[in-house]
Amino acid sequence: MWSIQGDALRAVPGDDPAGWVRVDERRVDHLFAAEPERRSRFLAFLRRGHRGVALADAGRWVAYGWLATPRSGPADHLPTSTAGRYWIFYCRTADDQRNRGHYRRALVALVGAAAGDAAPGDASTPTVFIDTRDDNAPARSAIERLGFVPAGVVHLWRLPRTTRRLGYWRKAEAHGR
Ligand SMILES: CC(C)(COP(=O)(O)OP(=O)(O)OC[C@H]1O[C@@H](n2cnc3c(N)ncnc32)[C@H](O)[C@@H]1OP(=O)(O)O)[C@@H](O)C(=O)NCCC(=O)NCCS
Repeated sequence: MWSIQGDALRAVPGDDPAGWVRVDERRVDHLFAAEPERRSRFLAFLRRGHRGVALADAGRWVAYGWLATPRSGPADHLPTSTAGRYWIFYCRTADDQRNRGHYRRALVALVGAAAGDAAPGDASTPTVFIDTRDDNAPARSAIERLGFVPAGVVHLWRLPRTTRRLGYWRKAEAHGR
C-alpha cells in the first residue's frame, strides 16, 4: 500500500491528464460494448458509488482507473479494514499503449477526482491510498515516482470458488523488494 496527500503529488507537465474523462454509465456502455465482462463489472462499480476515469482514442479505451471513496465502500479485492478511504484500484493500460505514462496520468486524474469529491470548503486535500502487488514493477515505479509513500502491506487469501478475499492490513510493515 502507498498513500499520498493530494498536495504532495510530484506530477510534472507530461503527467497532466488532459483528455481523461469521468466514466458514467453511458461511457461504460460505449467504451466496453464489445467486452461484456468488463462492462458489467464497471456498471457494478458505478452502482456501488466508485468513481472511474478513462482515456479513449477513436472510441476505443486506452487506459482506465477506479477510485473507491469513503462512501462507496472498499474495493472488492481489499479487506473491509480499508473502507472509509479514497483508494485507487483496478487500473489498466491497453497492452499496445503501455510505457507512455498513461497509468501515471490515471493516478493524477484519480487523485484529482478524490479532491473534487471531498467536502466543498475542505481546506486540505484528502489522503488517497493505492495498492499493487510486490511484483508489479511498472505500477510500483509509477506510484513511487509520483510521490506516494509506503503505507504498509495487505495480506490476502482468495476464498475457494468465490471472488471474495480475506485479508488484513499491517499498516507499519515494510514493502518487499
Ligand atoms: C501497471 C500498468 C497499469 C502500467 O501502465 P502504463 O501506462 O504502461 O504505465 P506508465 O507508462 O505510466 O508507467 C510505467 C512505469 O513502469 C516502468 N516500467 C515499465 N516496465 C518496467 C519493468 N519491467 N520493470 C520496472 N519498471 C518498468 C516505466 O519506466 C514507467 O516508470 P517511470 O514512470 O518511472 O518512467 C500496466 O502495465 C497494466 O495495465 N498492467 C496490468 C494491470 C495492472 O497491473 N494494474 C495496476 C495495478 S492496479
